[in-house]
Amino acid sequence: MKTFQEYLDIINKAIAEIPYPESPRQLYEPIAYHMALGGKRIRPVLVLMACDAMGGSVDVAVDAALGIEMFHNFTLLHDDVMDNADVRRGKTTVHRRWNANTAILSGDTMLTIATQYIARMDGRNSRALMDLFNKTAIEIYEGQQWDMDYEERDNVTVDEYINMIRLKTSVLLGCALKSGALVAGADNANVELFYEAGVNMGLAFQLRDDQLDVWGDPETFGKEIGGDIMNNKKTFLLINAMRLAQGDDADELRHWLNDPFATREDKVRGVTALYERLGVRQLAEEAIAHYNDLAVAAFNRIVMPDRDKQAFIALTNKLAGRNN
Ligand code: IPE
Ligand code: IPE
Ligand code: MG
Ligand code: MG
Ligand code: MG
Repeated sequence: MKTFQEYLDIINKAIAEIPYPESPRQLYEPIAYHMALGGKRIRPVLVLMACDAMGGSVDVAVDAALGIEMFHNFTLLHDDVMDNADVRRGKTTVHRRWNANTAILSGDTMLTIATQYIARMDGRNSRALMDLFNKTAIEIYEGQQWDMDYEERDNVTVDEYINMIRLKTSVLLGCALKSGALVAGADNANVELFYEAGVNMGLAFQLRDDQLDVWGDPETFGKEIGGDIMNNKKTFLLINAMRLAQGDDADELRHWLNDPFATREDKVRGVTALYERLGVRQLAEEAIAHYNDLAVAAFNRIVMPDRDKQAFIALTNKLAGRNN
């Protein structure tokens, strides 16, 4: 196996070489802008790593990796419209720099380009790859719909939350690892274990994302802090705070959730202080450790050389503890 940086270099080179048509400029410029912003590129690296670990050709897997990263970036264009977000990867979001129509239509185009990359895969598992990609895409739309629905509900359970993040985030990490294993022609038991590892990695990943949305450093996180609080997102933190708050704390939390005139500064400061008082940050930390352990256990069950297992385990540990 190569190092994370070596896989990343392969991906970044391939992304830099994606040819976009000259016109309409308003359609393609935002795509090039967003794809060049970087980001962690974790999903395409997972595709290449899994393919390599299962003895496949990394070169052959690059199109699948590009398709998944392009798809991920499409979801971010639309997500930033839905979440009313101004900043991503430290830069102005597409819908703010251009407008919502641009984010919709450039996003649609990215989805189709992504599908074209997956369709280019013509090995023996190409049909399984396309089926997995399409199934995952629909699951993500379902998860995003639950995420929006839950903004308006105040009785969301932890189980509903976990299922929502499994759909909106985790299945794409599972899909990335599973796609790499499929490209390599790995046997079925290993393919499914990669999926299981990716989904658990993804649960820890979204729990950490929700935590960084409150306590992250905007410089490294690249997004504005407090977006989830402003949108009344039913994150693990808010659901547990609603469950644990009593008396004055419960009144105050209800006030922040229902006062349409609260300023961003006051609401984010008030809700964050409640989270700290109620100890929900620690609960999230424990949940992250739990799902990270499940991911590590799945990686350990995959039949591959020990040093490859350690590479996946080091990466999942690093992502669970990340600050960006
Ligand atoms: C952002 O994904 C959306 C979530 C699932 C939290 P990433 O945190 O992987 O974003 P980039 O691609 O690194 O910017
Ligand atoms: C990300 O959820 C899920 C998808 C984009 C599909 P978030 O809304 O938490 O992602 P960020 O925080 O904006 O990156
Ligand atoms: Mg969102
Ligand atoms: Mg968002
Ligand atoms: Mg988030």
